[in-house]
Amino acid sequence: MIWGSSVLASDVFRHVPVMADEVLRFLEPHCGGIYLDGTLGGAGHARLILEATSPDGILIGMDRDAEALAAAKSNLAEFGDRAILRQGNFSEMGAHLDLLQIDRLDGILLDLGVSSHQLDSPERGFSFREEGPLDMRMNPAEGVSAATVVAEAEANELSRIFREYGEERWAGKIARAIVSDREQTPFVTTLQLADLIRRVVPRGRAPQRIHPATRVFQALRIHVNGELDSLRTGLDVAWQRLKVGGRLVVISFHSLEDRMVKQTFRALATGCICPPRLAICACGQQPSVRVLTRKAVRANEDEININPRSRSAVLRAMEKLPVEDDQDV
Ligand SMILES: C[S@@+](CC[C@H](N)C(=O)[O-])C[C@H]1O[C@@H](n2cnc3c(N)ncnc32)[C@H](O)[C@@H]1O
Repeated sequence: MIWGSSVLASDVFRHVPVMADEVLRFLEPHCGGIYLDGTLGGAGHARLILEATSPDGILIGMDRDAEALAAAKSNLAEFGDRAILRQGNFSEMGAHLDLLQIDRLDGILLDLGVSSHQLDSPERGFSFREEGPLDMRMNPAEGVSAATVVAEAEANELSRIFREYGEERWAGKIARAIVSDREQTPFVTTLQLADLIRRVVPRGRAPQRIHPATRVFQALRIHVNGELDSLRTGLDVAWQRLKVGGRLVVISFHSLEDRMVKQTFRALATGCICPPRLAICACGQQPSVRVLTRKAVRANEDEININPRSRSAVLRAMEKLPVEDDQDV
């Protein structure tokens, strides 16, 4: 089956960077600094960071997706050696930094999820609106495709995925229909699955503002790419690899991610946890970070009008604090 090749020209792989002003405000990129963009995508934010750190700042750009990386390479060509691009999961940034002999960073950006380019490329299988192979892997050379999950997972497991990662109300009903239908015909394309969901979700009870397949597709994507595991590890490593005073900015697009970011920041920012009745601290716990965003930051109406995708974006940022007796900061 031919899906039509994706066009790699960098001019069609531009991603309008979400909350660009806010990212720069919280990241505070400065010349001479070393920054890591763990979700390079179309290199929209990366370009802004490189411009703000001129003439000698360094940006390490990572993406799991080889296509994104190839396009970013061409988009950032004018910055020469100041842009160092690596294919990989940001959860593995530590190993990449070690290879580059870079110990600590001035700032890290994670702009989570998939890019508009990935969503708009039917052959990648992320879209429920256009026919394509049911794949959804950011790196198609890693892990198993959504088609394999849909073909092999038990109904209970499918239902858990749809409920947990998609908050899909009809998770069980959709999972059972998949398991029953796949006996006859395996699900190999995006529209096959989207059509089944449309059929199964009771008319009039489907979400009004979104396509009925939105939540299931989001859930499968998160599962196939292990997105929450990557984020959990990524947040931990990111905090460790920041310099004192270094900043981490994270943009999330759904509540599961944002909850994880919020809770991780809060835990790291927590100081003494001794019961109030103790006059002197016995736990010795000190805050390791300062949260810079007391409330989640959202895109303003002007940006939402220009770039509707920014409507669900939530930004949080923190700064690493010095810790007494910490030998390696
Ligand atoms: C929302 S886009 C980023 C757009 C980018 N900030 C820009 O301005 O063009 C997310 C990108 O991150 C990549 N990505 C998502 N999770 C990743 C992970 N755990 N490690 C590396 N790349 C990831 C995706 O492949 C996608 O290209």
